[in-house]
Formats: sequence, C-alpha cells, structure tokens
Amino acid sequence: MTSTMFRIGGDLGVRRLGFGAMRLPTEPGPAREASLQVARRAVELGVTLIDTAHMYGWGANEELLAEALYPYADGLLITTKVGVARSGPSAEWKLDGRPDVLRDQVEHALRRLRVERIELLQLHRIDPEVPLADQLGALRELQTEGKLGRIGLSEVTVTELDQAREIIDVASVQNRYSLLDREHEPVLAVCEAAGIAFLPWRPVAGAASGAAAEIAAVAAELGASSAQVALAWLLGHSPVILPIPGTARIDHLEENLAATHLHLPPAHRDRLERLPPSA
Ligand SMILES: NC(=O)c1ccc[n+]([C@@H]2O[C@H](COP(=O)([O-])OP(=O)(O)OC[C@H]3O[C@@H](n4cnc5c(N)ncnc54)[C@H](OP(=O)(O)O)[C@@H]3O)[C@@H](O)[C@H]2O)c1
Repeated sequence: MTSTMFRIGGDLGVRRLGFGAMRLPTEPGPAREASLQVARRAVELGVTLIDTAHMYGWGANEELLAEALYPYADGLLITTKVGVARSGPSAEWKLDGRPDVLRDQVEHALRRLRVERIELLQLHRIDPEVPLADQLGALRELQTEGKLGRIGLSEVTVTELDQAREIIDVASVQNRYSLLDREHEPVLAVCEAAGIAFLPWRPVAGAASGAAAEIAAVAAELGASSAQVALAWLLGHSPVILPIPGTARIDHLEENLAATHLHLPPAHRDRLERLPPSA
C-alpha cells in the first residue's frame, strides 16, 4: 500500500497528490472567479500542497491563491518559486539569480501570499551567469532570517543537485517528468536515495491528450481516465514523488485527485512500464 503522505525536508507533512496553480487565469472577470473556485475546491478535497511561482503572472498567481485561500487551512503548503525576472523595454523574461533579485522576489511573495514565512521556496532555475553559491547563499540567508523554511530546486541535473547539496539542504526538486517523459529518472533516483521530495511538473498533459493509446487502453480496462492512470503510476513509481497536476476546470481537478484511490494492478503497471520512456 503506497503512502498518501510525505514529509518534505523530513518534517513538513503534505498529501502527496498536490495541485499546480500555473494554469489558473488571473485576469479580472469570470475566468478569475472560476480560478478562485478551483483553488478553493482543491483545498476542500484535501489538497495540502499547491505550487505557484513569481513567474506565473509576475506575482498575480500568488495573489490569486491568497485571495482564494487566506486565511489558510491548517497544514496547507503553498510553495512558490523565484529566479525568473522580466527586464528591458519589451519586458522579456530571463533567468535572474542575482541575490538582490531573489531576495526581492521572496519579499514580494511573502506580502502577496500574506505570510511571514514561506515553508518551501524553490529556485525556479539555476542562473548560469551567477555563481551557484551566491544564488543558494541568498536563499540560505533568508532561511536564517526565518523567512524561508526549506529550499528546493527546479529543472536540475544530477550534477547540479550534487553541487547544490554541498551548499544547502535541498528539500525538493521539481523537474519535468511523467510516464511518457522519463528523462530525469537519474535525478529521481538521487532524490529517492536522499529522501528529497520530487515534484514532477507536466505530470498528466501527455497522457490526457491521448498521446499513448496504451495508457487509454489501461484506463478503459480499469474504468478510469488516462490522466488518472498517469497519476496513479507516478504515485506508485516512487514514494518521494509528489505530483502537482494543473487544471483550470473543477471536473478535471476532481478527476485528478481521485487518482489517489486508483489501484494499478501489477499486470497493468507492467504494460505501462514497457512504454517508451520519452514518447
Ligand atoms: N518548475 C517548472 O519549471 C514548471 C514548469 C511548468 C509547470 N510547473 C508546475 O507544474 C504544474 C503542472 O504542470 P502543467 O500544468 O504544465 O502540466 P499538467 O498538470 O500535466 O497538465 C495540465 C494540462 O492538462 C490538462 N488537464 C489536466 N487535468 C486533466 C484531465 N483530468 N483531463 C484532461 N486534461 C487535463 C489541463 O487543461 P484543463 O485546464 O482544460 O484541465 C492543462 O492543459 C503547473 O501548474 C506548475 O505549478 C512547473
């Protein structure tokens, strides 16, 4: 029986199946109202891990979550990410890991999320133009000041993860990963060995779009949807995996969260394992 819970950094307990907020529209109007409802429904259904980022609407996504959910339910973790910024006259985005930028984005996130401390803050990308020790040093300073609980990374290689672990305690890694996209299997292996939470992003899109007939066939046999099969596979694949599927639709949200209860019999799991690792 796979556990439905995970302790991030060894002590921060969350339900493993979370929610990614990136796709929630934030512009004023009916779409925003619907986004508020989706976020509230996620928590109502027991989600305790919600992923956002400064980059999602340049703060608008963080604000939306606070509007929907503040005051927060006990045990709800909203994790955000910093390290991508807009600059120049055309407001183009680029990686920006300069310490003052990271600090500024964290300070803004604290205000937007209406909290005094962000329990898990993830570096959205390592900026190749800034020494890693400076980027992580800035986050460690914020941690020492009590503004951050734990620090995670996103889109890292095994080498980068190893280098980061020499500087800070890494609590989580968020890399693109799914049943159909297993390039980061070596990173997952390091996370599993070290007890680091692995938050696969884009966990359902490929399966839900019907990219693999075999997933649809397994789903039909189990009376489930392809998205549910993709999520159940992730939950069973490693105990450190915490999927964060995203949707702007309540029906898809409910469907995705129900995957916690989907049992994949070994024969069906074997069929899924035989799919090419990068479809
Ligand atoms: N660290 C990073 O660099 C990074 C990058 C991208 C994303 N992320 C995070 O990861 C989260 C998830 O990633 P993602 O949104 O790219 O991919 P995803 O969760 O795999 O897929 C979302 C897409 O699939 C659709 N979908 C969701 N559930 C469905 C279902 N049950 N049936 C059919 N379609 C379904 C959604 O459309 P509908 O709205 O129509 O349901 C949406 O188009 C994001 O919200 C974000 O928090 C992180």
